[in-house]
Amino acid sequence: KNIVVLISGNGSNLQAIIDACESGIIENARIAAVISNKADAYGLERAHQAGIDTLHLAAGDYTDREAFDRAMADNIDQFSPDLIILAGFMRILSADFVRHYQGRMINIHPSLLPKYTGLNTHQRAIDAGDTEHGTSVHFVTEELDGGPVILQAKVPIFEDDTAEDVMARVQQQEHRIYPVVANWCLQQRVTMQGNNAVFEGDIL
Ligand code: GRF
Repeated sequence: KNIVVLISGNGSNLQAIIDACESGIIENARIAAVISNKADAYGLERAHQAGIDTLHLAAGDYTDREAFDRAMADNIDQFSPDLIILAGFMRILSADFVRHYQGRMINIHPSLLPKYTGLNTHQRAIDAGDTEHGTSVHFVTEELDGGPVILQAKVPIFEDDTAEDVMARVQQQEHRIYPVVANWCLQQRVTMQGNNAVFEGDIL
């Protein structure tokens, strides 16, 4: 099975996926390519280290979002992907792109969705006085951070925590759950049906 990972930055979740392909947590799959919209994304370096093909596409080279997304899709489809993994990909995707990969594209968002879609989730959770925060893996639909949730992990927020403290705690959980969910998707143990994530048997 082929995976394509889209990134914009550090790529610690990409690293977790790379490691999981090697360790067998992700079964019978390889990352065929890593695509970044940022030339200096450290995740590209991680991919090189692992011997994975990389591609950088600059939004500035395209007339509009649709054109950029079409170029991405043309490149992605050359790898015949079974699963597209968004791992810190910081661009809004056009409706056509999302529809093209409906049911085979997942994202990880650092909040307990439906709470805190969008940016600065850790600080917003602290500011709201929440004692609990977390991360969600979901199928990608046209609604930003709105597709069906597959799995969440919770972390505590302690008094005096900074956003960085909370983020570190959240990311630890992301690195644990994202590979597991990626594997479920690849093995079709979870599928998107309508606006729901449907699980095969009793995997949860
Ligand atoms: C993650 O925390 C993820 O939830 C969010 O962006 C961050 C990416 O981190 N979508 P990394 O690039 O995987 O280290």
